[in-house]
Amino acid sequence: MPQSKRKAKSGTKPKEKEITLSVIKADVGGFVGHATMHPALMKVAERGLQTAKKSKLLVDFRVAHCGDDLELIMTHREGVESEEIHKMAWDIFMAGTRKAQQLKLYAAGQDMLADSFSGNIKGLGPGCAEMSFVERKSEPVIIFMADKTSPGAYNLPLFRIFGDPFNTAGLVIDPSMHGGFTFLVLDVLENTEVRLSCPEEMYDLLVFLGAPSRYMVHSVYRKSDGEIGATASTQRLNLMAGRYVGKDDPVLIIRTQSGFPAVGEALEGFAFPHLVEGWMRGSHHGPLMPVSSKDAQPTRFDGPPRVIAHGFQLNNGSLEGPVDFFGDPSFDLTRQKANEIAEYMRRHGPFEPHRLPLSEMEYTTLPQVKNKLEGRFKKLQD
Ligand code: F6R
Ligand code: MG
Ligand code: MG
Repeated sequence: MPQSKRKAKSGTKPKEKEITLSVIKADVGGFVGHATMHPALMKVAERGLQTAKKSKLLVDFRVAHCGDDLELIMTHREGVESEEIHKMAWDIFMAGTRKAQQLKLYAAGQDMLADSFSGNIKGLGPGCAEMSFVERKSEPVIIFMADKTSPGAYNLPLFRIFGDPFNTAGLVIDPSMHGGFTFLVLDVLENTEVRLSCPEEMYDLLVFLGAPSRYMVHSVYRKSDGEIGATASTQRLNLMAGRYVGKDDPVLIIRTQSGFPAVGEALEGFAFPHLVEGWMRGSHHGPLMPVSSKDAQPTRFDGPPRVIAHGFQLNNGSLEGPVDFFGDPSFDLTRQKANEIAEYMRRHGPFEPHRLPLSEMEYTTLPQVKNKLEGRFKKLQD
């Protein structure tokens, strides 16, 4: 159906001329174990998206994977949270699940937490980051995709990129960035959100961003004109399902250049391999290692956690790219450092801070062990 005749069933229909960039992802089956993606699943996704492009629902698309996560990168004019777009992605993930089942891939349909689609893919298992904007004269964007970690993993790089002049020279030099950025932060425990303005409220902001298992950056806006600069997927699968089910393996979209951080400033935010949660069984801290797509295949102790960066120029919604940024040798030192940190953390075995704190184990073994040992903990005399 042509764009003009189609009506969005829900979601925020963008203003005329706005393009929407949606990245929707799910783990629908691993190959081998939870390591990477079977090519047959990539083909299922390609076919599904090609059909959507032919019907003019999509302007353009790319299929990617980071580890065992299937990533649908899409441009369209339906706006964010469009039911039609989300349903199409859901159907592709269901088709991928069926293929994974046929091939007996590992944990087929892992992230598909609902039996059927209902209105919006959020809350059903897959992760989703999307933004609408009027395409600039030239629109360079970067899509970051991570595996074996959780959405809070982007807090530190996002702060560096949009809040820290030691990372982003543009905050000092470029007049249109000099006013700073606003961070929209979610509290995933209380289900609340707060907008904090940087640099004025930087110290308040860091109180929350520094606790990434609970507070996560949802989006970042340029203060001079309110333009969106970044948005991340912020669904936490373990909390959503009320118990631990896999992890979130988040995606992040950043617009770059001409009043946004330069491509190199956005990438620089990942030059320090900081500790994130989500390694082995979603229960360990490890360094986030930036890698090229060909190395997006976690192995050692199912990790260490990793992130890839695909750069695109938008061309009236068409995706020119990707450029596989972290393949660059200038990230070799980061990887070397990440591997040293990985080795150091591994030596802690089941001890914190390699293993996540007990509060996170509420979703896994802790309740069973507590039950089993009930009555064995004797009160001590004061
Ligand atoms: C999955 C992951 C893995 C698994 C681990 C155990 O994304 O991070 O580390 O948690 O391989 O998997 P199961 O419980 O499926 O045997
Ligand atoms: Mg998996
Ligand atoms: Mg994964």
